[in-house]
Amino acid sequence: MTTVYLNGEFKPLAEASINVLDRGFTFGDGVYEVIPVFNRKVFRFDEHIQRLENSLNAIYMVDPLTKDNWHAIFNQLIDTLEEADQSIYLQITRGVTERDHDISLAENPTIFAMSRPLVKRDLSAGIKAITHEDIRWQNCDIKAITLLPSVLLRHKAKEQSAKETILLRDGYITEGAASNVFIVEGDKVYTPPKDKHVLPGITRDLVLEILSKNNINTTEAAVKLEQLLRADEIWVTSSTWEIVPVIGLDNKPVGKGCAGPMWKKANRFYQEYKKAI
Ligand code: PDD
Repeated sequence: MTTVYLNGEFKPLAEASINVLDRGFTFGDGVYEVIPVFNRKVFRFDEHIQRLENSLNAIYMVDPLTKDNWHAIFNQLIDTLEEADQSIYLQITRGVTERDHDISLAENPTIFAMSRPLVKRDLSAGIKAITHEDIRWQNCDIKAITLLPSVLLRHKAKEQSAKETILLRDGYITEGAASNVFIVEGDKVYTPPKDKHVLPGITRDLVLEILSKNNINTTEAAVKLEQLLRADEIWVTSSTWEIVPVIGLDNKPVGKGCAGPMWKKANRFYQEYKKAI
């Protein structure tokens, strides 16, 4: 039985329900986080809560809970599962109001959180990706629940037997449909800078931090489509996927068509970092 947190209460998933006038349902008016748990410890807690607060502030909301509240909720959810590695999903919407665009009608946010066993897919052999125009809005730095464009973009990848879609705006990479993107040229690693068109990925920042610590040359710089197409390696990163090599792009091999040496190093450093904490 899965236990979830909803508006101050812990209850079985089957008993957790929300009002159909919740603005999350009618407008997609809310934000979310996906937070990994390794060995029963919340990974990068402070960073995820900071991003949650940034997302909330960007949509004229404030975090309804304190950091201590979040900590206690997460730990209680983690304790309900046997698995040591988990993935917490949390969502805050503006709450229940008449179906009216006016946000001043909203009084009480809806706060939901659950933890599930982390489904560890072995993607170390690499995945295929496609490229596509970034059809999302102009505020992709907000982790908004309104994900229809991302859902459609992932589906486009699936239609071509690929797993991720790498997005382009005006000929430059932004990110993946649900991941950040890195490319390798020789011994240099590049990722697009954080701006309005890119989610500030927690894994992205950690990968940059770990690579720099290990004296690997990293640059946050705009990456053109031509650079992507001739890259020696391409990786995508996310909390649930960690660092995944992209070995095929638009039906052509990336580099030698297998996980590259720089990915192997980066992944080793990442796994070591996880173990050490
Ligand atoms: N998504 N960019 C987008 C658009 C994302 O949706 C995600 C993650 C990332 C990577 O961020 P992080 O490293 O903080 O997980 C980048 C989550 C996993 C999801 O929507 O399920």
